[in-house]
Amino acid sequence: MSIVCKSSSEIDKMRRSGHIVRQVLEATKEAVAPGRSTMDLERVAERKIRDLGAKPAFKGYYDYPCVLCASINNEIVHGIPSERRVLKAGDIVSLDCGVVLDGYYGDSAITVAVDGLTPELQKLLDVTRESLALGIEAARVGNTTGDVGAAVQRLVESNGFSVVREFVGHGIGTKLHEDPQVPNYGTPGHGPKLRDGMVIAIEPMVNMGGPETRLLDDKWTAVTQDGSYSAHFEHCVAITKNGPVILTE
Ligand code: MF3
Ligand code: CO
Repeated sequence: MSIVCKSSSEIDKMRRSGHIVRQVLEATKEAVAPGRSTMDLERVAERKIRDLGAKPAFKGYYDYPCVLCASINNEIVHGIPSERRVLKAGDIVSLDCGVVLDGYYGDSAITVAVDGLTPELQKLLDVTRESLALGIEAARVGNTTGDVGAAVQRLVESNGFSVVREFVGHGIGTKLHEDPQVPNYGTPGHGPKLRDGMVIAIEPMVNMGGPETRLLDDKWTAVTQDGSYSAHFEHCVAITKNGPVILTE
């Protein structure tokens, strides 16, 4: 395993790609409405990426066919946009997008309501977003990836939800996925130490029911085994002497 630390000028470049991802997700979120297909969202995301002068990071990555992952309800991650997947009121949809600009990657995800939320689903989204905030808070020089994972896991499980194990956060830089892996569970003090200049994508995937996952026949879409709803939020974070810096906002 080799973890690459970034200079401050590299981190500036990653802030630019991160800012583009943010704008792409905002534009895509605006397009979420009952009756829209996830392919409609794909088109919005692709247009925005190109308009902002970046390139999609996901399309062609291990032959993934799209620029966006759009995962509805019980789908955890890597839902492939399709004309046949039409959003309806009461759904939640996770939007995950990555771009590359000037050789540096940005990667972020949000989960949004299609139209009105039950209190239960509102809680799932709030807890997942808050667990990401706590993970980011723990992303400090001298801490470890286990501290990040433990912070995420503690909040999620204390709210009666569960953390997905099969997919994890990751280092990011001149590649979409770099070392180290950043699980959303763990033991404080365990795992690789975080150092000044490391950049990691923290991305809790939280299930309302059990943590088990299943892969659909398309070989991409991961769903909850028990059919329960799942939410996903992701930010890229630089670890600096002055504390964590979110690059994707
Ligand atoms: N945010 C996800 C990740 O970091 C998305 C990867 S989708 C892929 O793993 F298509 F690029 F594989
Ligand atoms: Co990621």
